[in-house]
Amino acid sequence: MTGPRHFLDLDRLDATTLRRLFARAIAFKAGEHKPVMAGRTLALLFEKPSTRTRVSFEVGAHRLGGHAIVLNSRDMQLGRGETVADTARVLSRYVDAIVLRTDAHHKLLELARSATVPVINGLTDRSHPCQILADILTIEERKGDIACRRLAWVGDFNNVCRSLVHAAGLLGFSLAIACPPELLAGDEPALAWARAQGATVTVLADPREAVRGADAVFTDTWVSMSDREGERKRALLEPYRVDGRLMRLAAPDALFLHCLPAHRGEEVTDEVIDGPQSVVFDEAENRLYVQMAILEWCLVG
Ligand code: CP
Repeated sequence: MTGPRHFLDLDRLDATTLRRLFARAIAFKAGEHKPVMAGRTLALLFEKPSTRTRVSFEVGAHRLGGHAIVLNSRDMQLGRGETVADTARVLSRYVDAIVLRTDAHHKLLELARSATVPVINGLTDRSHPCQILADILTIEERKGDIACRRLAWVGDFNNVCRSLVHAAGLLGFSLAIACPPELLAGDEPALAWARAQGATVTVLADPREAVRGADAVFTDTWVSMSDREGERKRALLEPYRVDGRLMRLAAPDALFLHCLPAHRGEEVTDEVIDGPQSVVFDEAENRLYVQMAILEWCLVG
């Protein structure tokens, strides 16, 4: 007997599956009505705050004919010591799929091991695959097939960056990452994995080198929620701010992406995030459609 179809990380999927998810997201965005969640309930379990993930999954479940319940771990027995495994077994008796946002990736894996319904990664300390699917859809809406494109990531090698590296391994675009060497784990497995798939992924210290000629420039918050290294990271990342001068080194029609929430004046200037190259609100909107596609894929294949 096969188990539930989980959506945990992009490096567990293949290019064909990603392409199918994008096709379904485009269909949902074009207005396709498919009530695959009729009579079904989605649990959204948060150990950390969220605006986009929470609202887009709730709306997505509703548009697919189902409904969502939002659970804060602090209000659950999970927050008082009940195990993740027991929580998974109990929730599986009530709901049809579970989205988890957590600071500890191992909890996502534990939830998936014990749940008998699909589990979806709504962000962990390791990865944010829903976000990167939305970002790639956003780039392809403007520029067509991403395979021949050059992307640049500027800032911390964080969870969103790691999912972007996984996507490079599957979809064949080239990726230059500018990150302070002090913030890089020398044996980052995502890089080895993507390169083994044939992807060109380079890691540089100089943000100007990474951005030069790029078709899209990504950045993200320097200090993530519950990051204890805040002040050290801010000091190291000061030269990695995406401002107008840095963006002018990219291709003239380069896009600027940020998964939000942004800390304006820190990792990005107002000039860039509010400028004509910015697609940050399209990214946020596309979360809804890629997640409807993910829910459909998890629930009905
Ligand atoms: N980008 C993102 O995941 O946003 P939230 O933290 O608001 O969910």
